[in-house]
Amino acid sequence: MTQELTSPSPAPQAPGTGRGPGWWRDAVIYQVYVRSFADSDGDGIGDLRGARERLPYLKDLGVDAVWLTPFYASPQADGGYDVADYRAVDPLFGTLQDADDLIRTAHDLGLRVIVDIVPNHTSDRHPWFQDPELSRQRYLFRPGKGESGELPPNDWESVFGGPAWTRTDRGDWYLHLFAPEQPDLNWDNPEVHTEFEAIMRFWLDLGVDGFRVDVAHGMIKAPGLPDIGHGAQAQLIGAQVLPFFDQDGVHAIHRAWRRLLDGYGDAHGRQVIGVAEAWAPTAERLALYVRPDELHQAFNFQFLNAPWQSDALRSVIDASLAATASVGAPTTWVLSNHDVVRHTTRLGGSLARARAATLLMLALPGSAYLYQGEELGLPEVTDLPDEVRQDPAFFRGGRATGAAGPGTDTESAPDGVAAAGGQDGFRDGCRVPLPWSGELPPYDFGPGGSWLPQPADWGGLTVAAQTGDPASTLELYRAALDLRRRLPGLGDGPMTWAPAPDGVLAFTRPGLLCTVNTLGHDVELPAPGTPLLSSAPVTVDDATGRLPGDSCTWWAI
Ligand code: NOJ
Repeated sequence: MTQELTSPSPAPQAPGTGRGPGWWRDAVIYQVYVRSFADSDGDGIGDLRGARERLPYLKDLGVDAVWLTPFYASPQADGGYDVADYRAVDPLFGTLQDADDLIRTAHDLGLRVIVDIVPNHTSDRHPWFQDPELSRQRYLFRPGKGESGELPPNDWESVFGGPAWTRTDRGDWYLHLFAPEQPDLNWDNPEVHTEFEAIMRFWLDLGVDGFRVDVAHGMIKAPGLPDIGHGAQAQLIGAQVLPFFDQDGVHAIHRAWRRLLDGYGDAHGRQVIGVAEAWAPTAERLALYVRPDELHQAFNFQFLNAPWQSDALRSVIDASLAATASVGAPTTWVLSNHDVVRHTTRLGGSLARARAATLLMLALPGSAYLYQGEELGLPEVTDLPDEVRQDPAFFRGGRATGAAGPGTDTESAPDGVAAAGGQDGFRDGCRVPLPWSGELPPYDFGPGGSWLPQPADWGGLTVAAQTGDPASTLELYRAALDLRRRLPGLGDGPMTWAPAPDGVLAFTRPGLLCTVNTLGHDVELPAPGTPLLSSAPVTVDDATGRLPGDSCTWWAI
């Protein structure tokens, strides 16, 4: 598919470019899950024009950048993470011109744009896979085991359930760590490297400011593709190094990409970045992805998966900060994304905890990613009928954990909340289209319906309903992001723990002290200053501060 641009002018430039301390080190980046953000044409599926029209909302929210999930030409076997043409926009989402327009508009507003790149696998409709000769060189085909090759080459399981191998008509097998429609690429082939570098340059020439690298821990497999020896392998992802994930060889790829990004940035007076979606068993192994000559950021899924307990939170924060500091990188915090249960639901179905967790995250040193709709306090939708679900894991009978997204094993989830996936472990429940205004679905998501049904009771959660209400979650996010910008050093400066009662965290940052009460009841302590912002009403009487249960407060000191 060839798509042309009509814009005659050179690629738009991001705001405030040039060498400096690194804009990504403390940026707040908003994830736009394109098909569920805003629909411009009434087909019930969000698109690039819809997203562009809503960019002023994101500017007003106070974020620094947007990350757009894949909008490339794709049969949509896995929500677009099965790419058939990395240089074309899928007609579902618009045209290349729409992508160009969106990037220009974002830059005009002072927002940077990050796009996904999916290097571990392509779609089975990609021309390389369709070509019988090329495919044998650029994907991972192996003969089967058994007398007539009727058994898969090894015991690896797909993250989405079932074997990670599918047999071809020719009798051999190909590897797909995800759906069969997502064959894994052969990164031992230099042509694969060359092609992905060219894809990156293509999007950099269009003006993007970076890439979110899908399955950044997956491209290199252990030599010989050894058996693992037991099943339930999805549960091991992120708990140990596997022969298909977090192999040391992936780092050479990231080093090459860093050279490309730095070289491109230097040549064009821009700072362009890579953010790793990497599953690693420890904070130290995750930090390897953000060494000075590798990617700029790596999502901290250990924080996302931490239970709502002060000790657990403190130790994951300490371990994360120590590991990233050891390589001179910022920590990249995240609480929700399109692969996990929305944190309002995950944290015990408690909006109070979700609001507190967000204020905690935004008070920590480093960068942070927000997932669309969390600023509205949206819960996971847990009653989607089977006939509307689209998560491939649902159809493969697996659970979308690990590299499909950062799942949590149910045992470690607080209050017995199943955190591995939304409804029955699947991911559609966090992807329900956003409610913008009105009392009834589709709540102005677009002029038509919405590809997943929205709950009938979301009228009070719309952007319009929450705007101007100081008690709303949306206004809490706006206020927090505004303060974060105005307090110098809050993003990337030092952090020091302060004494606090059991169940409470307290730490200082430049210009403020943050308290987090993880207990379900009020806690009193000497007021450390004047409340600046709180996720729940905090009171101060005679120098005693009363922290509501499940709350976070920023104090001016
Ligand atoms: C991680 C993406 O976030 C997820 O949605 C996708 O299913 C897998 N990678 C496979 O590409």
